[in-house]
Amino acid sequence: MRWLLLVLVACKPIEIDDKKRVDDDTAVTTPTPSPTTPSTPEGHPEFSNPDEATDLDADPDVLHVALTAAAHTHSIGGEQIAGYAYNGQTPGPTLRMKIGDTLIVDLQNDLDVETTIHWHGVAAPYDMDGVTWQMAPVAAGDSFTYQFEIHEAGTFWYHPHFDTESQVDLGLYGVLIVEDPAEPSADEELIMVFDAWDEVSDHTDEAADHHGLDPARVAWTVNGGLLPIYEGTGGTTARVRVLNVSNTGYLDLPPMRQIGEDQGLLPAAIDDERAVLGPGDRVEFEWLIEDSWTLQASPYSVNGGEAWGDDFDLLEIEVASTDSATPVSWPFSGDRPSIDPGHTDIVYVFTGESGGEGWMINAEIFPDVTVEELPLGAEAIVEIRNLSPAEHPFHMHGHHFEVLSLGGEIPAFKRITDTVNLPIGQALRIRLVADNPGDWMTHCHILPHAHQGMMTVLRVLE
Ligand code: C2O
Ligand code: CU
Repeated sequence: MRWLLLVLVACKPIEIDDKKRVDDDTAVTTPTPSPTTPSTPEGHPEFSNPDEATDLDADPDVLHVALTAAAHTHSIGGEQIAGYAYNGQTPGPTLRMKIGDTLIVDLQNDLDVETTIHWHGVAAPYDMDGVTWQMAPVAAGDSFTYQFEIHEAGTFWYHPHFDTESQVDLGLYGVLIVEDPAEPSADEELIMVFDAWDEVSDHTDEAADHHGLDPARVAWTVNGGLLPIYEGTGGTTARVRVLNVSNTGYLDLPPMRQIGEDQGLLPAAIDDERAVLGPGDRVEFEWLIEDSWTLQASPYSVNGGEAWGDDFDLLEIEVASTDSATPVSWPFSGDRPSIDPGHTDIVYVFTGESGGEGWMINAEIFPDVTVEELPLGAEAIVEIRNLSPAEHPFHMHGHHFEVLSLGGEIPAFKRITDTVNLPIGQALRIRLVADNPGDWMTHCHILPHAHQGMMTVLRVLE
């Protein structure tokens, strides 16, 4: 709900709960109906990757960047929308590094509210993870330096974890790419950050939980642009990294060749498989740039059943020549999934409903939650059951995990991830190695659900 900002600029989030220090999503927000209708964009912007951050350090093994969070006016299809941005760009600067590098980020908070940065998908050290009980939020006008090494390759993203629902919604997010130098490269790498803007609608906050349902009421942007045009060179290949940073919208993409997801390359390509990205989720495709086409998404129902509405356009691919391209030989490992040992160490049951008692994990509403504990180094089998009438993207901080099965189905290949969508009535079984000590946030990444209580804490003992 982009219109929240009208309210948010005027009134500050209420204080976080100091007794518990576990309440990071506390802004009281009231949606305001939009007084305007969208203007039709005149022409389409040219597609480009988000600008990359400038490395302030000459050391090739260190990426040192400066990020300033400040108020920003987003210009979406001719509409001016007040919000926030990092370094004045939507999305924020892409941070690109390689496995084993040190990331140093000097965050300057020029907002008039507190903020933090969370490194979504990265197993960051506890005090760098950006959750308010793990580090003090950075006060308005203050700065903070994040510094840690990253030892995993993948397509990650960064966003605040203070008043998350509104700060992400207002535009604070950017891409973090960790490359594995052993991998071959495609001719081109395309980064596509998808966000949904519903400033054109006048529905209530509750209805906004499901705005992925109704393409007529939201506009999806790619890197901040409405239906951009990508001018491709015929006969080339592209590694396409796709991120869904929207608060609530699901992105249902047509069948394409999938080569990676949250944590880098897959063990094998999955050809012609539809990709459904819940909020926070990522996928990688290989595109052979051979002819012109339009990337479309389908409306998606998070409440089960058929979604209504028509497919809608996201990106135009324009290619002048029709030369054929040769696929890259990606170093797929072929790794098979681990065998499910059959026992369960932790169970998370997702329940709730819109307008009811709220969205809950194990019938508890955050921050009043039971903290599950694991000894350091333990291998744990966690079962997440979705008994609610809606889908939820399950996300865990500090760790990635292996999917053992989803809805009883064992993946064809080993699947390491950090965000997985939970279909209604199904169970997800995961295996994780508790190797990062701390009290880690575990939550639904539909941010209004998290805000309403669908979060819990997993403690990994020292
Ligand atoms: Cu994208 Cu708790 O995070
Ligand atoms: Cu949810």
